[in-house]
Amino acid sequence: MKFNLYSLVAAILLPSFAAAQLSGSVGPLTTRASKRSKVCNVLNYGGVASKTSDIGPPLASAFAACKTGGTVYVPPGDYGMSTWVTLDGGSAWALQLDGIIYRVGTAGGNMILVESTTDFELYSSTSKGAIQGYGYTFHAAGTYGPRLLRLQSVTDFSVHDIALVDSPAFHFTMDTCTNGEVYNMIIRGGNEGGLDGIDVWGTNIWVHDVEVTNKDECVTVKSPASHMLIEDIYCNWSGGCAIGSLGADTAISNIVYENVYTWESNQMFMIKSNGGSGSVNNCQFNNFIGHSNAYSLDINGYWSDESPAAGNGVLFENLSFNNWKGTCADGATRGPINVVCPSGAPCVDITISNFAMWTETGSYEYYKCENAWGSGGCLKSGGSSSYAIVTQTVTSAPSGYSAPTMPSDLASGFALTASIPIPAIPTTFYPGATPASTLLGG
Ligand SMILES: *[C@@H]1O[C@H](CO)[C@@H](O)[C@H](O)[C@H]1NC(C)=O
Ligand SMILES: *[C@@H]1O[C@H](CO)[C@@H](O)[C@H](O)[C@H]1NC(C)=O
Repeated sequence: MKFNLYSLVAAILLPSFAAAQLSGSVGPLTTRASKRSKVCNVLNYGGVASKTSDIGPPLASAFAACKTGGTVYVPPGDYGMSTWVTLDGGSAWALQLDGIIYRVGTAGGNMILVESTTDFELYSSTSKGAIQGYGYTFHAAGTYGPRLLRLQSVTDFSVHDIALVDSPAFHFTMDTCTNGEVYNMIIRGGNEGGLDGIDVWGTNIWVHDVEVTNKDECVTVKSPASHMLIEDIYCNWSGGCAIGSLGADTAISNIVYENVYTWESNQMFMIKSNGGSGSVNNCQFNNFIGHSNAYSLDINGYWSDESPAAGNGVLFENLSFNNWKGTCADGATRGPINVVCPSGAPCVDITISNFAMWTETGSYEYYKCENAWGSGGCLKSGGSSSYAIVTQTVTSAPSGYSAPTMPSDLASGFALTASIPIPAIPTTFYPGATPASTLLGG
């Protein structure tokens, strides 16, 4: 292992910080090895390694046989899928996806839904397992199809070492999940909205070392959520990471995003609501690097893509943004700081520090604040009432804005009319950072 200051500091600081941020241990309760004491190989349940076969029923049968302790095994090879599966219940089981599943069916819903289970692991032992959604066949016609993967009410789990490619709709959703770890994943979707990378809500989840390409959510937290640590995320031509969209009774707290690298996305980070109630509080957003994004730090309490929800506005309170560097596409059109809070619930205790973003176009940029209190940027201090938009013009590059790029940022998004190739899982997700776990097949 190469020794450098970063890894030394990371090795000393990250485990304790992760422990402080999360509310307990994450991941499955028993090992892959123990789950392999019983293996249910889909080939023994009617599975056929062919791109035009239907792995759905064999997967469901193998699951039924192994769901109370064992490994459902999809060996290396190509498999078609025309019947979607709901893998419900069970515990102490794994889905070892070493093969590649290609979408054949056209129904809506979720190709693979895992629900109400515990001590669960979805992984590829070769790091080459994937789901290929062939979303382009829908997108070329201007429509959407099924989502690839959904975990619902799953506890003590991990998902890692797989690629999710070209979903006809969302790629990976975690709905009301607890004690999870997601890592060493790549998600590559078409270049349009509605193809979310990872959407997550629940409690005590660590998402790290993930790359997303699409033109919508990169790794996004939805309500209700608490105690999440999301770090070493590479949004390689995406929509960018976000919290939202938020509506009535929002309950989000104790979320930390750090080491987030964003290239050619809609934003580096956005918190989005329109009306609504409840709050987002006690969150941190540290160590962000961005290049060529439309928005950078963007809090929008009047997000017009969302129809107004009941309530005076979601309260954003005690949020800190520290150490943001890089460049934005055009800081005069879309300033790198945009904090627009609801007049019925002005933001309070917002901290922006070590913020050094400069514009790639023109010679000045704006910060814009409205109904927003705290320190840094154009935030007003010492109050909590509503106020009209204030702008601050920045006419020279902030010192220290220069930030590294990733070795091979995407030069353009993926076409909506041609198949997207299945990529290898990368081994770095943030400049200079080494993933917390090595690839299983590395
Ligand atoms: C603000 O949030 C941080 C976590 O980001 C927490 O440690 C701190 O106690 C909170 N401050 C207040 C006043 O609640
Ligand atoms: C970003 O995506 C492009 C296109 O697939 C790929 O060539 C490049 O390697 C990715 N960047 C990194 C650092 O993985």
